[in-house]
Amino acid sequence: MKFEVKNLPAGLSLDDEKGVLSGSIEEAGNYAMTFIATNEYGSMSQEFTLKVGDIIGLTPAMGWNSWNCWGLSVSQEKVMQSAQSLLDKGLADYGYSYINVDDAWEADERNADGTIATNDRFPDMKALGDWLHEQGLKFGIYSSPGERTCGLYLGSLGHEKQDAETYNSWGVDYLKYDWCGYSKVWDGLKDQTTASYVRPYLLMEEYLRNQPRDIWYSLCQYGMGDVWIWGHAVDANSWRTTGDITDSWQSVCECAFIPGVDIYPYAGPGHWNDPDMLVVGKVGWSDELRDTRLTPDEQYSHFSLWALQASVLLIGCPLDQLDDFTINLLCNNEVIAVNQDVLGKQAHRAANVDGIQVWMKQMADGSYAVGVFNMNEEEKDINLSDYYDACGIKSLKSLRDLWQQTDLKVSDTKYKLVPHACKLFRITLN
Ligand code: GLA
Repeated sequence: MKFEVKNLPAGLSLDDEKGVLSGSIEEAGNYAMTFIATNEYGSMSQEFTLKVGDIIGLTPAMGWNSWNCWGLSVSQEKVMQSAQSLLDKGLADYGYSYINVDDAWEADERNADGTIATNDRFPDMKALGDWLHEQGLKFGIYSSPGERTCGLYLGSLGHEKQDAETYNSWGVDYLKYDWCGYSKVWDGLKDQTTASYVRPYLLMEEYLRNQPRDIWYSLCQYGMGDVWIWGHAVDANSWRTTGDITDSWQSVCECAFIPGVDIYPYAGPGHWNDPDMLVVGKVGWSDELRDTRLTPDEQYSHFSLWALQASVLLIGCPLDQLDDFTINLLCNNEVIAVNQDVLGKQAHRAANVDGIQVWMKQMADGSYAVGVFNMNEEEKDINLSDYYDACGIKSLKSLRDLWQQTDLKVSDTKYKLVPHACKLFRITLN
């Protein structure tokens, strides 16, 4: 594949093999460009606007995180294997770009000068960051406002400024900041109001935003104190809304189907709800991996809902062990486009009748993405038109099945859905 860009702004250059833009632009503003990709099968082009300004994370982050697969047994080598596979298997071409190291990279003790040190599974963080950047990828890291992380590794308490500076020196582009050990501090506080939840995140925000890098700030405190209300105020780019996900249908419901009903209005460009990482492919939270226990239909529903909810899309399986089903699930450009839509709306639940849920997301071009989910334990016949009133639809102009990438007749509204299966459509209205 070869890449070209029309209207490339001054200060930027394109690597025409990797399709990676780099450089810097002096003036804030919107820069319209056309990207063209060509290979032996033909050529495609896409309009693209680069927005230079104060807000980062204008669309949900896409990438990989080590936790759901490797848990505390993560190593630099395992991280690099997944990063290399993200490139080799073409996932990077779909927009997956963050490679995030979760807990367990830290040493037992800080250096004598108080700076954070890595354990022997991570020999050189700066080299890891440099290598990721050379590949056109971004580098994510993990810490806690507490003395210790959830895995009992070193946290940042009392060293926030130093740690932000160290992350900058390593080229970090994403920080997941996990409450965990901060509970000890919080338990001892007299004032356990919202302000007490905000305080540790505000402190790190100040040091992070002082760094000369754009660092995605990801809050992880499981939704306490209604974080979706104040996450913007600490300039968080995303915030976890619930406890940890696991590979069960019940967990997918608890992380996204249930909370999404109320919290959808709080997401928007720069600030996203995060219902936790994807549980597809192989997971295990340790050296012992197994196939996700979600059925293939549940995985379609999981990914469809994350797309509709404009959720951060972090893959949690080892990418060197990806099977064809999972690659196809993760790399449907029309489904990803729902997640990455620049209007940045999160879907709302328009209908919930007899265990059929309909979620609807407004898109920048005036169309809508609509997901229909069978939450029942038995197969159901559904008719999309039964939900038009609830969705505010008078009549359809067009109907497209996004997983199949096929246009349907607007009268093709009747389907069978097996338990926990879904249909994902993009519609335009008359
Ligand atoms: C918490 C977080 C997880 C993961 C672990 C690491 O449980 O919610 O996502 O980061 O800590 O120890």
